[in-house]
Amino acid sequence: MASTLFNASCSFPSIKVIDCKSYVGLRSNVSQVRVASLPVATSQRRSLVVRASNGHAKKLGRSDAECEAAVAAGDVPEAPPVPPKPAAPAGTPVIQPLNLNRRPRRNRASPTARAAFQETDISPANFVYPLFIHEGEEDTPIGAMPGCYRLGWRHGLLQEVAKARAVGVNSIVLFPKVPEALKNPTGDEAYNDNGLVPRTIRLLKDKYPDLIIYTDVALDPYSSDGHDGIVREDGVIMNDETVHQLCKQAVSQARAGADVVSPSDMMDGRVGAIRAALDAEGFQNVSIMSYTAKYASSFYGPFREALDSNPRFGDKKTYQMNPANYREALIEAREDEAEGADILLVKPGLPYLDIIRLLRDKSPLPIAAYQVSGEYSMIKAGGVLKMIDEEKVMMESLMCLRRAGADIILTYFALQAATYLCNQKR
Ligand code: PBG
Repeated sequence: MASTLFNASCSFPSIKVIDCKSYVGLRSNVSQVRVASLPVATSQRRSLVVRASNGHAKKLGRSDAECEAAVAAGDVPEAPPVPPKPAAPAGTPVIQPLNLNRRPRRNRASPTARAAFQETDISPANFVYPLFIHEGEEDTPIGAMPGCYRLGWRHGLLQEVAKARAVGVNSIVLFPKVPEALKNPTGDEAYNDNGLVPRTIRLLKDKYPDLIIYTDVALDPYSSDGHDGIVREDGVIMNDETVHQLCKQAVSQARAGADVVSPSDMMDGRVGAIRAALDAEGFQNVSIMSYTAKYASSFYGPFREALDSNPRFGDKKTYQMNPANYREALIEAREDEAEGADILLVKPGLPYLDIIRLLRDKSPLPIAAYQVSGEYSMIKAGGVLKMIDEEKVMMESLMCLRRAGADIILTYFALQAATYLCNQKR
């Protein structure tokens, strides 16, 4: 059943990285058709002739004409009878069938029909895998995110990326756990060319040149205040001064080899400023995925534990959006489009499907959805407690994000879900 629900179209663009043996791509039936190129001597024209092969012309005995004549003469061969109607259990009421001219269940009656009429597909190519990195050599489990680790940037990370690529996930986004001693109020470590993120990008690009690396642009992992921007004495997050830092951060990441920089800070005007800064440094080909509609959500709790990046005071409500707001997402989207964003992101994911659909309908740009840490941890916890089927709920949640209109999904389930998709019988 599940295999028809999640009928993955595993058509990976870079087949090289795929190690997934059960993957079956689209195969055309060319073996039954021969394409012959016939040179025409008299004119200089060449014409293409397509001929059916004679692979089917096996002789069984009687000719077509003899078979037809036999049937016409009343000598009809036997075929199995129509099976009897399956019996209903005793006690089933005997009724007149409802007079319905539309019965939607007809199109769901079999796995084949359901697969034929499935409207949305999901494949490992849709996933971006968020990975936590640290300076250590060991991988440290993250308590609030079962199955996730702070990965050693030189060891565990490389192994995790190799596993992801083997099942068709070739896009990652990096989140650094920055040593406390390197944090300050202006987050200057964010643009250290030899900091953890730029170093890691260089290492990854050296080993996997075709890996697509997304980076997070925001000051919180680097800020001694745990905020995405610079905090003034009175608690105000300073917008334009923060944008200045973010531009330096994005350029530093681009210099190291980042493919897509992703401002998640929600300062006003940062997309345009970052675009200009990248272009001025010659990074015209580096993309911007803007966290367009990022809500002030409690679903980020486990992530902040992972990076030890909780705001030291207050909350993020003066820059992240109010979860009660829908129209405001359009204001952000229009700005980001005008400022040159390449991808618009909605975050969190599942509780914000209406926002994903809104941006999908109102913008021609690709839409990303972030299934955030809290969403991940709830599914994991429910699975561990045997309250839900973790794997099925995981796949359903991802499919629903796609159905709502997300092209790509940032999800901590990327490796697990891609492995599931690749192992499916097709
Ligand atoms: C940092 C950032 C956050 C997340 C992604 N980038 C945390 C925050 O805004 O507080 C959250 C991701 C998650 O919860 O999985 N700006």
